[in-house]
Amino acid sequence: IKNTAIEKLEACSDLKALDELKVKYLGKKGELTAILKQMGKLSPEERPVIGQLANEVRAKIEEEVTQRIAQLKEKQLQEQLKAEKIDVTMPGKKFDVGKKHPLTIVMDEIKEIFLGMGFDVVSGPEVELDYYNFEALNLPKDHPARDTQDTFYITENTLLRTQTSPVQIRTMEKRKPPIRIISPGRVYRSDALDATHSPVFHQIEGLVVDKGVTMSDLKGTLEMFIKGLYGEDSQIRFRPHHFPFTEPSAEIDVMCFNCHGEGCRLCKGEGWIEVLGAGMVHPKVLLNCGIDPEEYSGFAFGVGLERVVMRRFNIDDIRMFFENDMRFLDQF
Ligand code: PHE
Repeated sequence: IKNTAIEKLEACSDLKALDELKVKYLGKKGELTAILKQMGKLSPEERPVIGQLANEVRAKIEEEVTQRIAQLKEKQLQEQLKAEKIDVTMPGKKFDVGKKHPLTIVMDEIKEIFLGMGFDVVSGPEVELDYYNFEALNLPKDHPARDTQDTFYITENTLLRTQTSPVQIRTMEKRKPPIRIISPGRVYRSDALDATHSPVFHQIEGLVVDKGVTMSDLKGTLEMFIKGLYGEDSQIRFRPHHFPFTEPSAEIDVMCFNCHGEGCRLCKGEGWIEVLGAGMVHPKVLLNCGIDPEEYSGFAFGVGLERVVMRRFNIDDIRMFFENDMRFLDQF
């Protein structure tokens, strides 16, 4: 037994087979065990002799098994090391790392600026009820100003929001003043695509409601915002305007960077780019949300993100944002 066992063990070249051999000889039903079990049948003189012999054989086989296991494990390790060897002198493979989209870069900056002024960031649905997008904002069904926002209707009462202003209403319904929020997101209008218009774009809504909020708070906040974004020397101007949900209302322009006069694609030669709509929240809008306009006042504004980013990075065509051309995106 000893000799065949050792012979087989030496020939054995993998750990699993080795384990099987171990069981075959040393296991409960193994050959050696079988002999030991029959010891009782032997004469008293033979017993110690055979017993000793069997123990020697057992020890020898055990030793051999342990040795073989160690050898085979070592061999396996060496093979693994060889297979996994890395040649650190080989030239590396270049791979492209993803980048933030320019709209995301600036959106993040804008959020930071307003977070710094104590605003919360909230969001609202893109598929919106007519009530929130128009009605509660003082734009009843027959209001002519609805025409200025070419709306994608889904049903008679649901639509793709044309502005982020519905989030004002949703916020005022849920929170009590003081309220100080911005709400960034996508908006939709059925405009034809050209260098300055896209049927989907982004706005950032702002809303502040508290006791004693005035137009000068609005001006101060927007000036902080624009200077934070474009630098201290950037210039803005307020133009009187009309929005049904604010009174008084204004449009705010930033000076054009790209201006080469008449042919300028961004400002059409006017020297200014419109980036914001704003005003004091209309008392009717406050009332629609259960806020007493005698006690509270507020201001609101809406920023067109694409315009702001175009001004920021000297981009003169809005379509670049949505075409996913790597040559464009790689620059940021
Ligand atoms: N929602 C307006 C628009 O899309 C912008 C705006 C927001 C104006 C808030 C005033 C107050 O044109």
